[in-house]
Amino acid sequence: MDLKTKLEELAQTSVTRIEESTSLKDVENLRVQLLGKKGELTDLLKMMKDLTKEERPVIGKLANEIRDDLTTKLADKKEELEEEALNKQLQEETIDVTLPGRTVKKGQTHIIHQVMEQMEDLFLGMGYNIIEGSEIVSDYLNFERVNVPQDHPARDMQDSFYINEHYLLRTQTSAVQPLVIEAHDFTKGPLKVISPGKVYRRDSDDATHSHQFHQIEGIVVDEGITMSDLMGTLEVMSKKIFGADRVVRFRPSYFPFTEPSVEVDVSCFKCNGAGCNICKKSGWIEILGAGMIHPNVLEMSNVDSTKYSGFAFGVGPDRMAMLQYGVDDIRQFYMNDQRFLSQFSKEGAE
Ligand code: DAH
Repeated sequence: MDLKTKLEELAQTSVTRIEESTSLKDVENLRVQLLGKKGELTDLLKMMKDLTKEERPVIGKLANEIRDDLTTKLADKKEELEEEALNKQLQEETIDVTLPGRTVKKGQTHIIHQVMEQMEDLFLGMGYNIIEGSEIVSDYLNFERVNVPQDHPARDMQDSFYINEHYLLRTQTSAVQPLVIEAHDFTKGPLKVISPGKVYRRDSDDATHSHQFHQIEGIVVDEGITMSDLMGTLEVMSKKIFGADRVVRFRPSYFPFTEPSVEVDVSCFKCNGAGCNICKKSGWIEILGAGMIHPNVLEMSNVDSTKYSGFAFGVGPDRMAMLQYGVDDIRQFYMNDQRFLSQFSKEGAE
């Protein structure tokens, strides 16, 4: 077979081989095989030396045409395959705008804070200020200044975490009383304050006790404040939080910082006083401690107890939330379990 025929044959078979390539890699390999330095066309051209002078330019021209033609065909094929790949990719990556989007999970105010905010709203509406005390206080402020001397047995009930010999995590928001009373300028009007916040006790944790919980302290001092002011205020509060039909009951009690002292119950909002599991069959639910501020507390805060009097109360939002929502274990509030906490959306609290 002469060189011309061989070249024509190569041209022909090459076209089929190019046509049959299915990947860019095939095309590149084929290009090297056909047109590369050691390729099939180069191989054939080595036989040029055996041609006659007249044949040489003719065959040379033919070889160049074949090379050009194959180069174009390979490039076309490459382009075709690239386009195919691109189309495939585009098709695969099409965004389906009708698919539902990913929702962002919204958090919500912790249930205890919802209850505290409810109380804050109520008392702000009655002209109270809100003051936050510090959680680390001196033993002196937490106890002595609220009329609980060093060796008083009431300290046993409120053992706490001591930072050092003199400082501790406050056991009660009552520790704000001395500072707030002392700082008030009575020539400018009555002192009316609530102070919400965390308190700590070395209680062994169980379903109704946590080593950290919340209190809201209420303090009112002015000339002529009486027990009936206290009773009226707490009645308004109880009805607002637990419902307008609630009846409030005051029982005599004892706190070192109040005299007289009371414990306050509301008629059970579940059974309306008939007796059920929430009120332990008594018809009443204890909600807070209160009383007329002890003259010693006023005097230690440089307030003349013959001229001024006041009341104070301490209420536990944790307990209120447990009652309001029928939660039977206080520790649930502090475990950060979303399944529990997300039940109390703000809307639900209203
Ligand atoms: N501080 C008391 C406690 O933690 C609660 C309390 C009772 C506060 C009577 C008061 C009050 O202001 O008058 O047990």
